[in-house]
Amino acid sequence: MFEYLTPQPNDAIMALMEACKADPNPKKIDLGVGVYKDAAGSTTIMRAVKKAEELWWHEEQTKTYVGTVGNAEFRRLMLDMMLGENNPVLARTASAQAAGGSGALRIGAEIIKSAAPDATVWVSRPTWANHIPLISSAGLKIDDYPYYNRETLGVDFDDMLHHLEQHAKAGDVVLLHGCCHNPTGADLSPEEWDRLAVFLTEQSLTPYIDLAYFGLGRGMVEDTYGLRKILAVCPEAILAASCSKNFALYRERVGLVAVICKDEDTAKIAQSQLGSIQRKIISMPPDHGAALVARILGDADLRKMWVEELDEMRNRMLGLRQLLSEALDVQGGEVMAAAVKDQNGMFSTLPISKAQAEKLRSDYSIYLTNSGRINIAGTNTSNIPRFAEALLAVL
Ligand code: LMR
Repeated sequence: MFEYLTPQPNDAIMALMEACKADPNPKKIDLGVGVYKDAAGSTTIMRAVKKAEELWWHEEQTKTYVGTVGNAEFRRLMLDMMLGENNPVLARTASAQAAGGSGALRIGAEIIKSAAPDATVWVSRPTWANHIPLISSAGLKIDDYPYYNRETLGVDFDDMLHHLEQHAKAGDVVLLHGCCHNPTGADLSPEEWDRLAVFLTEQSLTPYIDLAYFGLGRGMVEDTYGLRKILAVCPEAILAASCSKNFALYRERVGLVAVICKDEDTAKIAQSQLGSIQRKIISMPPDHGAALVARILGDADLRKMWVEELDEMRNRMLGLRQLLSEALDVQGGEVMAAAVKDQNGMFSTLPISKAQAEKLRSDYSIYLTNSGRINIAGTNTSNIPRFAEALLAVL
């Protein structure tokens, strides 16, 4: 039977990661896959995670199954942190621990498929490359709305609303990046979130918020402004959150999906759906990483240690944005210089073509996606001048 299989293209981000690893040039610059790197270029285990692992090694008594929706303490602490402890929507929220943010997105897609099989999921143009395969493989229709303007390097917010108003139908779902838009770093302003929340409610569109970079944008409060506003105004929503980046738990696959319903009775049904969907896909989520997150968030000292390191990571990236912006602020680079400084989180998308991205790879060993996405954390004080020079040369 396997002779009927057709070869599949490599995932672009994963292929870029492999190509960079294989490049022997000691001056190579890796701006590809979205992992945080410190000044030495290393992706280390966070101090609070290491400490929690040590404590947990002594405390953990069993490896028996936890259950289809995972660790309840992890879910409660994560939701309290993202939504605020006394948020009234918590009473009508169903949730499941998931295998990373991707697992959360997939479960969210499956629950849309169960509730509204004819809904179209609208994604920003551009969006994270894996959003489309993850969501459409649940059998849902996907379409896109204008978002990033490759000339101004800002958000075309009015076009976005206009397009959705014209083309989306009541009952459709709109996928939004809660903060640190991947791949562009261009986020909505608080005023735009306010307008969007009202617009979605008036149009009967359901927001589906992907919160993968919480804490790495402008701050823990700032990064949840959009999420909290949407939940305060829209009666229903889905949230897919990841601990890959902000806890640096990438390979442990720690995520959370939450379904915010109109009332508590519906939330109970949604809760049973989440368990049943997970059971059908992977049966149960892996426990280790979620147990560590629960250990950290539930312990004042560990939590403080985690917040401090997260602040360091965010501030380092903001400093790199400033330096890169200064290096690009020469003739021909002014628009990029302004955008890089204003954008949020790990990524910016620069206005370069596929051929220019390939030239940066072949001639300079600089690795970024063909769409022009750069991982700011891959830059550092010593490689920024070389990167800026090469970039301006290929442009
Ligand atoms: C990225 O966007 O680079 C990361 O989220 C890693 C991935 O899985 O694509």
